[in-house]
Amino acid sequence: MPPSDTRFFTEDWIITLPSRPDVKFIRLTPPVFGERIKILANPLNHPFDSSADKEEWTPIKIEESRQRFIDQYNLSKTKYRALDILVQIGGKTVGQGGVHEIPMVKAGLANIGLSLAESARGKGLGKATMQILLRLSNELEVDIVHAGTMLANKPMRALAAALGFTEREEVLSIPGRGVVAELLFENVDYKKFKDLDMDVEFTGPAPD
Ligand SMILES: CC(C)(COP(=O)(O)OP(=O)(O)OC[C@H]1O[C@@H](n2cnc3c(N)ncnc32)[C@H](O)[C@@H]1OP(=O)(O)O)[C@@H](O)C(=O)NCCC(=O)NCCS
Repeated sequence: MPPSDTRFFTEDWIITLPSRPDVKFIRLTPPVFGERIKILANPLNHPFDSSADKEEWTPIKIEESRQRFIDQYNLSKTKYRALDILVQIGGKTVGQGGVHEIPMVKAGLANIGLSLAESARGKGLGKATMQILLRLSNELEVDIVHAGTMLANKPMRALAAALGFTEREEVLSIPGRGVVAELLFENVDYKKFKDLDMDVEFTGPAPD
């Protein structure tokens, strides 16, 4: 399905949920990419990841990640492949997430990932962030949405179950990153989130 609004890909935006007015879900764009790294580079923010993903975020690794992000971001202006967000409270980034098509695994399949700072967990924010990402999945030209994690990640398993994913044990490897999941969350009815009650403020052309 084509996007309901191509401005999700061509403009900058801020999403708020009436139920969580204190939280802003802002589009991840190149000028604020460093905010994602602050979350990802803290080992406390991916406690269950494989050893490869726990490796130190060296300047080279950060640059590779930034370049991968920029390539997807630019491609998505016309191909609608990926959307990424920062989660902010009072102007401070407390989390990040994204939904990306992963054609190297399967055409038409999108993967959702998210992580919150320790201080932001256990208060319903992960669930709210996942709801936004499921809503945004409807803008991508994909037809299946999944997520994955490690078996020990009880909070993520509870979150996924609460939103209607089923789980299946399967090791998922991504070229260049190694094992990224031991458990897949599938069969979520992401189309149901198309009508999620959220406010979107489009704030101008997507910055380079
Ligand atoms: C996984 C993560 C996103 C969950 O977000 P969160 O804000 O902590 O979770 P929420 O408060 O929204 O809770 C969502 C559900 O999980 C349950 N839950 C939360 N923490 C839990 C825990 N430690 N044990 C069991 N259940 C838990 C909640 O009760 C809730 O279920 P309910 O709606 O049925 O009541 C967050 O903990 C996180 O960022 N962890 C580190 C990074 C990570 O593991 N990312 C996932 C890999 S893709």
